[in-house]
Amino acid sequence: MDRIVKTLTWNKDYLEIIDQTLLPLDEKYIKIKTIEAVWEAIRGLHIRGAPAIGVASAFGLVLAAKKYKGKNKDKFFSIFEDNISYMKTARPTAYNLFYGLARLKKSAYENYRKSIPELQDIIEKEAEKMFDEDMESCKNIGENGSSLIKDNINVLSHCNAGGLATTGFGTSLSVFYFAWDKGRKFRVFVDETRPVLQGARLTTWELKKAGIPHTLICDSTAAFLMQQKKIDIVIVGADRICANGDTANKIGTYNIAVIAAYHKIPFYIAAPLSTFDFSLKSGDQIPIEERPGEEVTDLGCIRITPEETDAYNPAFDVTPAKLIKGFITEKGIFSPKNLFTLKKI
Ligand code: MRU
Repeated sequence: MDRIVKTLTWNKDYLEIIDQTLLPLDEKYIKIKTIEAVWEAIRGLHIRGAPAIGVASAFGLVLAAKKYKGKNKDKFFSIFEDNISYMKTARPTAYNLFYGLARLKKSAYENYRKSIPELQDIIEKEAEKMFDEDMESCKNIGENGSSLIKDNINVLSHCNAGGLATTGFGTSLSVFYFAWDKGRKFRVFVDETRPVLQGARLTTWELKKAGIPHTLICDSTAAFLMQQKKIDIVIVGADRICANGDTANKIGTYNIAVIAAYHKIPFYIAAPLSTFDFSLKSGDQIPIEERPGEEVTDLGCIRITPEETDAYNPAFDVTPAKLIKGFITEKGIFSPKNLFTLKKI
């Protein structure tokens, strides 16, 4: 099975990404050469999805570290720390961003005595390792979750947790790709995912490429479909999962979890371990990003509301663990009740 898309590619001097703001109408790749441009690409959703954000931010830090040509180790580390702090401000919710930066920081400090060129190399190798690990995690998530997709069922997806959101096959979409590869026949109902339309623009684009049958619905249609017994399982991705299993994901995920529970439909989260933040006890501690109101008042470049309409635009919500049947990870499927066994891994 081939990857659906090369979401990001590292080329030693620059990071190449597919510009997700232009999809599906335009498949344009852009070269990013500075940490500032990586920050802008993440903030502007040119690259998005928790694991992809994590790996891109790591390469942003690599670009900045490789720029230092001096010989002063303290200065190198001071700039390095400043760049970590700066990169952390790109987006607040996806834990992968903080996880990636922490990994690079750890590998640099563990090798403090090495020369600056060696340190630059070590940091770059760590980011490349994260890229490969994410790709491997996607495969294992797909393999582990594929048993949940039985023949002739309908699945509901929200946002885009596909190849575009990772370095590999994605998380929830990887489950669909692996199940499809095993010959299972099923249909994916794709929530459009207001206001940025990651479902309508990106998930349909990926599923079309993979040849998996899918039907786009308005977010508000999901309950009606469930009432008609047309949804058998819900699988979505995650931006941050707390120690108790409370999970932040794209705004609207909580709505789906509530209606799925009402209709007794199993609700799963597919995510790599790099999305688990065991330092947070529960979901009320997760920082939720608030994005510009224009994403709600405008559709693309067209305003759909009277001028100066007040709009509230949280990008994520938190689904309580009790609504989640299981977490599909690269290490297997865990229920919120046995998540603590994952902590030990
Ligand atoms: O705002 P986005 O598009 O970055 O939000 C993405 C999501 O909410 C995804 O579901 C999540 O990051 C998981 S991606 C594997």
